[in-house]
Amino acid sequence: MRKLHPLSIAIALVLICLGALSGILLIAWAAAPWLPSSDFRGLILTALAGVTALAGVLAVYRLFLAIFPLEAGEVGDNLSASFRYEVHQMFYLMLFTQLVRSNLLPVPLLRVLQVALGARMGENSYFGGVVYDPSFVEVGSDTLTGDGSLLTPHMIEGKRLAYYPIKIGSNVTIGARAIILAGVTIGNNSIVGTGSVVTKGTVIGDNEIWAGTPAKFIKKNLAAAAAAKTGPERPKSPRRNQEVEML
Ligand SMILES: CC(C)(COP(=O)(O)OP(=O)(O)OC[C@H]1O[C@@H](n2cnc3c(N)ncnc32)[C@H](O)[C@@H]1OP(=O)(O)O)[C@@H](O)C(=O)NCCC(=O)NCCS
Repeated sequence: MRKLHPLSIAIALVLICLGALSGILLIAWAAAPWLPSSDFRGLILTALAGVTALAGVLAVYRLFLAIFPLEAGEVGDNLSASFRYEVHQMFYLMLFTQLVRSNLLPVPLLRVLQVALGARMGENSYFGGVVYDPSFVEVGSDTLTGDGSLLTPHMIEGKRLAYYPIKIGSNVTIGARAIILAGVTIGNNSIVGTGSVVTKGTVIGDNEIWAGTPAKFIKKNLAAAAAAKTGPERPKSPRRNQEVEML
């Protein structure tokens, strides 16, 4: 892994502290004067301050991304090329990764958090596992990623750092503990088997079941295809991983 530049670390830490502090001050200003003194006053204020501190950090993070948007592709290792990615990584290393991995948040709240972090999700779709870099993740409706699954649009391979979007269609099931790597596209009504690894840049079509490590085409998801009436079946030629050209 590359060493982060000290300037990126310092700026990320300042932004995180600013966000958290503004959330805490907001509660001190807006709620503290109104809360009656009781045995629970301190507890309630601390809980509210925790939530608004997180909201403050989220707001600062999104503002940073609006000013310095992350783009897909290889990231150079000089400061000017990697600054925005390093600040983004710091937010994850210091806070967001612990939060999404903690299992503290109920799955519907995890969805709210991932959307707040930049994931694009259709209705009734949920992440049962971890998603890194949600601004590179797009999911249709009625899709579930299973318990303990991992979606990772970033590639850290030695000194190499790159980001490629993960696109998942509607009515897709990603099996428990499956891993989806950068640049993967998964079509509507498809299933990835439990514990599978879908390697970089793989393209899974509509109505397909893939499984294994590395994941390979197993069979058509005929039931889903019929239910969705998505048109004619694809030919039964052997499926192969299709690497995205740039990988
Ligand atoms: C992939 C899956 C959909 C296949 O189920 P199925 O259609 O009933 O198919 P079968 O169990 O008959 O398996 C078909 C073949 O795939 C293989 N296979 C099934 N699941 C596999 C997996 N997770 N990894 C590797 N191979 C797998 C079977 O060994 C079988 O191979 P064979 O034809 O050589 O004997 C199912 O095994 C699965 O993993 N579902 C995901 C469930 C899940 O995790 N949901 C989220 C919960 S939070």
